[in-house]
Amino acid sequence: METVRHLVSIKQIQKQYITGDLPVLVVCSDKEAYICKYMPSTNSAFKLVCELVGSTMARTWSIESPATAFVHIEAAHWARIHTPHNFTAPAWGYKKLDNIVDITPTTCNQVKNTNSLLMQLLKIALFDFWIANEDRTCNNANLLYDIVVNKLVSIDYGGIFNTSTFEYPLSQLTMTDTILYAELFRHLVKEKSNEDVISMANQLKGYYDACITNCEQEIQPILDVIPVEWNIPRLVVESKLKQLVNQEWTDAVWLNFLECLKDNLEEQI
Ligand SMILES: Nc1ncnc2c1ncn2[C@@H]1O[C@H](COP(=O)(O)OP(=O)(O)OP(=O)(O)O)[C@@H](O)[C@H]1O
Ligand SMILES: [Mg+2]
Repeated sequence: METVRHLVSIKQIQKQYITGDLPVLVVCSDKEAYICKYMPSTNSAFKLVCELVGSTMARTWSIESPATAFVHIEAAHWARIHTPHNFTAPAWGYKKLDNIVDITPTTCNQVKNTNSLLMQLLKIALFDFWIANEDRTCNNANLLYDIVVNKLVSIDYGGIFNTSTFEYPLSQLTMTDTILYAELFRHLVKEKSNEDVISMANQLKGYYDACITNCEQEIQPILDVIPVEWNIPRLVVESKLKQLVNQEWTDAVWLNFLECLKDNLEEQI
């Protein structure tokens, strides 16, 4: 795991997004703007742990994802924002990218229809099955498209672990829960035979196994960087992370991924 940077805000919060977590846009000490998720005023920051885990694991899978950092937002810089939050806990920031298009059912036609982009999407879909991300669906892709380098950029990991569920074991996503059910998938497979798409997916098995091995190495470093202010019982997170690399889980995920892919392809005929 790369060292996680700690940044501080240098001016008033620039704006608040009206999406689920009401993230805020913060200009930081490196002069870059970050979209920040912050700790609610009560409870523990389990959702922030999901953001930390999801973005770290996505990087380990070589899935394009914005640069991240802990962001210490000065109390004075919150003046214009009225959402209750914990002032002392660091927020989790994603560097704001330029030259991107937010993927929606109407913008997804702008994505180049290439094998490379379909492969990127299949990797992201498999990642979501593995990490039980319930927040990347047909209505909410949580994907950006970098129009300069033609790459899909994955964002928003607040919905991993079956929407931040720590008290029950991981459970499999269903066919309609994932990005495979979205307009973007239909757009990228429309000129391909089902056999070709399934063959591309099967090529991911070696990559998948290597990703799991690499992610196992990330468990301890992740536990080590969780800020104490987030008020998280380490053992609960550790047990969740261990489920992710448990072979029974990873084998079942692989089979479920292929099955959901086939079901989705057949449904499109
Ligand atoms: N790194 C980034 N660069 C540019 N824009 C971004 C970036 N990250 C997020 N955004 C924009 O901010 C919006 C909100 O981000 P995000 O999806 O992480 O928030 P959220 O509140 O958790 O969303 P949800 O409603 O899906 O839970 C995105 O839809 C996207 O338009
Ligand atoms: Mg989102």
